[in-house]
Amino acid sequence: MSTPNRPSGPNRPDRPRKQIHLAAHFPGVNNTTVWSDPAAGSHIEFSSFAHFARTAERAKFDFIFLAEGLRLREQGGRIYDLDVVGRPDTFTVLAALAAVTERIGLAGTINSTFNEPYEVARQFASLDHLSDGRAAWNVVTSWDAFTGENFRRGGFLAREDRYSRAREFLAAAHTLFDSWTGDEILADRESGAFLRDAGAGAFAHRGRHFDIAGHFDVPRSPQGRPVIFQAGDSEEGREFAASDADAVFSRHGTLTAGREFYADVKGRLARYGRTPDQLLILPAATFVLGDTDAEAVELAHEVRLAQVSGQTAIKFLEHVWNRDLSGYDPDGPLPDIDPEPGENTVALGRASVRMHRDPLTVAKEWRELAAARNLSIRELVIETTGRQTFVGSAATVADAIDSLVQQDAADGFILVPHLTPTGLDVFADTVVPLLQERGAFRTEYTGSTLRDHLGLRTPPPAAAPAAVATPAPATV
Ligand SMILES: Cc1cc2nc3c(=O)[nH]c(=O)nc-3n(C[C@H](O)[C@H](O)[C@H](O)COP(=O)(O)O)c2cc1C
Repeated sequence: MSTPNRPSGPNRPDRPRKQIHLAAHFPGVNNTTVWSDPAAGSHIEFSSFAHFARTAERAKFDFIFLAEGLRLREQGGRIYDLDVVGRPDTFTVLAALAAVTERIGLAGTINSTFNEPYEVARQFASLDHLSDGRAAWNVVTSWDAFTGENFRRGGFLAREDRYSRAREFLAAAHTLFDSWTGDEILADRESGAFLRDAGAGAFAHRGRHFDIAGHFDVPRSPQGRPVIFQAGDSEEGREFAASDADAVFSRHGTLTAGREFYADVKGRLARYGRTPDQLLILPAATFVLGDTDAEAVELAHEVRLAQVSGQTAIKFLEHVWNRDLSGYDPDGPLPDIDPEPGENTVALGRASVRMHRDPLTVAKEWRELAAARNLSIRELVIETTGRQTFVGSAATVADAIDSLVQQDAADGFILVPHLTPTGLDVFADTVVPLLQERGAFRTEYTGSTLRDHLGLRTPPPAAAPAAVATPAPATV
């Protein structure tokens, strides 16, 4: 056992042990979820969400996280049903979870492209009230016309405009959150005066994307503003994170990639007058636990085979090749033909296809890897599409997580179990106590809000309403 409060192994001996942040992503829609496992339950019934959230809370995690997908994915002109299909509305689920939990943070992904600041601000302010200060908003910038067909304005946003709208969306939302300072409600039964301040909630935002004014109808919430997450990986995405986010949900959790991303994004903060502790880097990670390391390795192999069937492997290859490859044998070699250039038209509704910015180079690298290691299509996809995965006994996994955090590859991890809803249980029961023993993870919540858990300060209320429209009457 290592000495509490001192990093062990290759970590820096000259500073106190960093405290690890842990969160859990409700697994749905991607092939992380092994829905065919006999132990898998519903991904849509409330009992699943409740079990998952309560387990995370029992383990003293910072928050649970819901992703967003606004249209059923399609591939080759058909609904993609190799993964779980269907997902209930984020706010409805999080509001219900607020009622059956007490401390765990409730983070929801809500895009800034197909919504309006007023309605999103009021939903998050309401969630923050209902949960006594546990709301977080992952601001994503979905832009594609396919998703846009579900909405009134269609896919109206040019790709290059999505972050300008996101920035303005968030600025407008902040204006709304700050339109109440928290001292406006008098509710004096004797005099009959409800409001102390007739200007309560007055706001105006005028910009390129939004021109809105009025009185915001949700009084200041416990956190003032929800915690802001960001998940984009592009240059503009990283800059947006540095200027505006409290935490980044990243793809980069391994030692080298994680340290590079961590240093890059934290290095951008000074430009915005911010310090490195004002932005947490939280990569996604999966895990497979066994009684021994060997058992876990074997189990992890079985899990990957369940996640990447032969059909799934071909579909994933199509994301890079951007053409129909259904005639290829998943247990055979990679196609000789090159990827079809241009925007991906085979797979619709997937943000991840945009990760492959240069498909020709990716195809070349994959061919070299497959040749060097004699990999079939399925083996290649298993090899290249896995996220950061912690595999081993509980002690091995606790050590790996702590080591990556102490070496600044991350401030913590957002865990994505492969089983819904019970996949987190074993982690809570075995890894968490080990992290607690070594003084790297809390044994009790010390605060009540998500900002408390994350070590982030609550933004002070704006000194005065941002702008004044017509004052509201003091009584109705
Ligand atoms: C870990 C992670 C999780 C994401 N989750 C979602 C999501 O739930 N819904 C969504 O529409 N986009 C999601 N995205 C996509 C991004 O938010 C963003 O739209 C995409 O990465 C394109 O932006 P970029 O060019 O800045 O990377 C996620 C991205 C990452 C890295």
